[in-house]
Amino acid sequence: MLPSLLSATLFLVAANAAAIHGSCRPRDYISASELVQMGALSNCTLETEFPTECRNATQAAPFVNNGFREYNLTSTGEKAALLSLMIFESGGFAFDINHSQNNPGQGTRNEMNFPFILEYALETPRVAAQAKALAGPNITDPSAVPPTTQNAIRALVLPDDLSFASAMWFYTRSGASETGCIDIPDMVSGLRNESLAGWENYITQCVGTTVTEARQTLWETALKVFHEHHEQ
Ligand SMILES: *[C@@H]1O[C@H](CO)[C@@H](O)[C@H](O)[C@H]1NC(C)=O
Ligand SMILES: *[C@@H]1O[C@H](CO)[C@@H](O)[C@H](O)[C@H]1NC(C)=O
Ligand SMILES: *[C@@H]1O[C@H](CO)[C@@H](O)[C@H](O)[C@H]1NC(C)=O
Ligand SMILES: *[C@@H]1O[C@H](CO)[C@@H](O)[C@H](O)[C@H]1NC(C)=O
Ligand SMILES: *[C@@H]1O[C@H](CO)[C@@H](O)[C@H](O)[C@H]1NC(C)=O
Ligand SMILES: *[C@@H]1O[C@H](CO)[C@@H](O)[C@H](O)[C@H]1NC(C)=O
Repeated sequence: MLPSLLSATLFLVAANAAAIHGSCRPRDYISASELVQMGALSNCTLETEFPTECRNATQAAPFVNNGFREYNLTSTGEKAALLSLMIFESGGFAFDINHSQNNPGQGTRNEMNFPFILEYALETPRVAAQAKALAGPNITDPSAVPPTTQNAIRALVLPDDLSFASAMWFYTRSGASETGCIDIPDMVSGLRNESLAGWENYITQCVGTTVTEARQTLWETALKVFHEHHEQ
């Protein structure tokens, strides 16, 4: 189930807080109330299943903004696509790993599969040596890494600053060429021009999954929220 949108009362409270703090933040800063309007959880009080994994929008906002800054993503179209993916995959930031036994090693806020988790860990200086040691001789064959070791490597990239930036890393840096999806024909231009075809190209050719109505609705909502709050 996806979280419902914020109640009118909460919205007023949050909007007021944003107005108070807004002046010291860059104009493109995505606020907690905007994240909630996009489908992120405003609080984790009802998320009793995985309480250590849940992050409310206030907690998530700085990590989301830092992720976009770190990977130099500035366009509304790219940000809306990546953010709506993260919100979809993590249930509005309710969880950050796949709790099914059938897909060990899958996690972070965009629910990356293990080969990418390993690659992300190896490219993250502060955890690279640990990831390398855990993978051992299977480093060149991620599918051979035993499930418990896959989960141990995944744990290295679950700290919030890494988990909330993995969608940005995946889009700009993953793969053998370390250019992520940005060399895929029409990828950057298609997301930036905010077309349905461009977003579908991202979902199918970059993320490698299928277009669904639920995913599309979240993307459209994210775009709408960006346009309402970040343009004249
Ligand atoms: C969000 O989480 C922080 C840290 O746990 C907490 O202080 C704050 O009250 C939470 N916000 C809401 C709306 O639950
Ligand atoms: C927490 O969020 C739920 C809906 O997600 C809302 O009904 C409830 O009022 C919120 N509680 C607080 C303390 O913000
Ligand atoms: C972002 O841009 C800065 C300044 O141009 C550059 O130093 C940095 O390497 C870039 N980061 C990424 C992840 O592309
Ligand atoms: C978790 O993995 C299972 C098995 O591969 C899959 O069916 C399910 O969609 C995954 N869940 C998430 C949240 O990605
Ligand atoms: C490497 O993979 C093989 C096959 O899955 C496994 O038996 C072995 O324990 C793995 N080595 C390490 C260090 O995880
Ligand atoms: C937007 O991008 C899509 C996907 O690449 C492309 O088919 C379309 O022609 C572009 N539209 C405009 C107005 O540039």
